[in-house]
Amino acid sequence: MKHIEVFAPGTVANLGCGFDVMGLTLDGVGDRMEVMVEPDAEGFEIRNESGVELPESLDENVITPAVRAMLAAYGGSVRVIIRLLEKIVPGSGIGSSAASSAAAVYGINELLGCPFSVKQLVEFAMLGEALQGGTAHADNVGPALLGGVVLIRGYEPFDIVRLPVPDNFFYAVVHPQIVVSTKMAREVLPHEIPLSKAVKQWGNVGGLVAGFALRDVALIGRSMQDAVVEPYRKGFIPDYDVLKQEAMGQGALALNIAGSGPSVFALASDYAVACRIADSMERHFAGRGIASHTYAGRVSNAGARIVES
Ligand code: HSE
Repeated sequence: MKHIEVFAPGTVANLGCGFDVMGLTLDGVGDRMEVMVEPDAEGFEIRNESGVELPESLDENVITPAVRAMLAAYGGSVRVIIRLLEKIVPGSGIGSSAASSAAAVYGINELLGCPFSVKQLVEFAMLGEALQGGTAHADNVGPALLGGVVLIRGYEPFDIVRLPVPDNFFYAVVHPQIVVSTKMAREVLPHEIPLSKAVKQWGNVGGLVAGFALRDVALIGRSMQDAVVEPYRKGFIPDYDVLKQEAMGQGALALNIAGSGPSVFALASDYAVACRIADSMERHFAGRGIASHTYAGRVSNAGARIVES
């Protein structure tokens, strides 16, 4: 069988005001897998060798709907085997499911001679997200495939825009050991929002996009506010307002919930500041008897890619 080793990075979705339409790429964390294909043969297998617990049934793996949609669009029969080698822990809020489905479709596309565009790969990969939260959104799979900061301008028709990343732009992420499922975090959201909140929100989304386009980190920081989703979700995160105050006190440009949580992310224009914020967020949860895992690094421009052996 033809084979290739691929990596897709972790991602942070929403970026405050951009619920389901914005996301960015993390450096130094992601999924690594070996993808094998055999044309003119049948079969699909996922071998989990990552050490991270995942559903055993193929139908419950987020990779499956993405790969099935891709192979249906391809037409010819292809046998696919995926060996998961490194995996972001599911439920962490840093795009675990997106990294898996993005890496899988990226690897298969490469081995088939690139019949699909990156935009089409995003549309296949986002089907895996529906398995998690009921909705096929692309704010994690977009940056996992394209790298950098991504805006989904529209879903019907699908329109994705890659934005530049400022040079000195770093993240701190804390993953507290509490469970907040994407499904639960979506169910608490209102179906309608008042016009006054909508006005605030689209002002901030515009500010955020302008901030990235202009590489203006202060504008990015003050636009990363969320009048719509954060008020409903912050109750899942112990003393969230205090956590935000602490991080801002350590020099964060902004802090918000990473995707549907429970992870929280902050942005900074200096790596040392990002590390300091990560420590402060860890202390916040430790002080409340909650263990956590932190990450700090550069917001990356690199999406899914081949791992050179
Ligand atoms: N945009 C999604 C949400 C990301 O906030 O529910 C989580 O997968």
